[in-house]
Amino acid sequence: MSNNKITIAIDGFSSTGKSTVAKQLAKHLGYIYVDSGAMYRAITYFAMENGFINDLNFNIEAIISQLDSIDISFKFNKELGFAEVYLNDENIEKDIRTLEVSSFVSKVATISEVRQKLVEQQQEMGRHKGVVMDGRDIGTVVFPDAELKLFMTASAETRAIRRYHELLERGNNVNYEDVLKNVQERDYIDSNREDSPLVKAEDAIALDNSNMTLQDQFDKILQLAKMTIEGME
Ligand code: CDP
Repeated sequence: MSNNKITIAIDGFSSTGKSTVAKQLAKHLGYIYVDSGAMYRAITYFAMENGFINDLNFNIEAIISQLDSIDISFKFNKELGFAEVYLNDENIEKDIRTLEVSSFVSKVATISEVRQKLVEQQQEMGRHKGVVMDGRDIGTVVFPDAELKLFMTASAETRAIRRYHELLERGNNVNYEDVLKNVQERDYIDSNREDSPLVKAEDAIALDNSNMTLQDQFDKILQLAKMTIEGME
């Protein structure tokens, strides 16, 4: 019976609410939640801290040469109810969510050596199924055999407003125009890169949540997950 755990892959554009629904779903099903974007953000943060990336400089060779010294892990925080991301054993959960990290992360995510390292680790985390992973290439590259694939979209403005409020709530001093610009820039880079671009997997279910409440979205996706799990029995 315990073998009917499935893999749930959630892909989509930035700030489409993937991580919110993925966390809810994992909690409800007793699955592991993995935020793959946090891993790309962790490498970006590492590169910034080490001076490999700043407004004037983007040293791809330096990032690649240091990949072996980057250890990314997740540790479950009971109070928060989800796993926080650690870089070489340091909790960097808050540091990676800034607009500054967002402004560099998509470029870091174009580097094939970075992707190879992270995809390998992601596949290992999902080896026993019972995982909900969100990102850009989960249904296409990381888990092409996932039993349930979702592709989330919403208008750029809706997404930018969501992200703007999220950043303000976290105490980040940002303006809406900069957030919108970042959302649009990342959409473009993520969709047009050569290695593992953001595309809907053929067998993914598309979901536009521009006009859905969080509850509607969760109910709908939970129903899809339950149907998929029942189909396995
Ligand atoms: O939460 P948000 O939508 O802002 O993005 P994220 O999931 O934290 O991902 C940050 C960035 O990492 C994306 O814009 C992509 O450039 C990259 N990424 C990726 O290339 N592949 C993934 N599986 C996940 C994220």
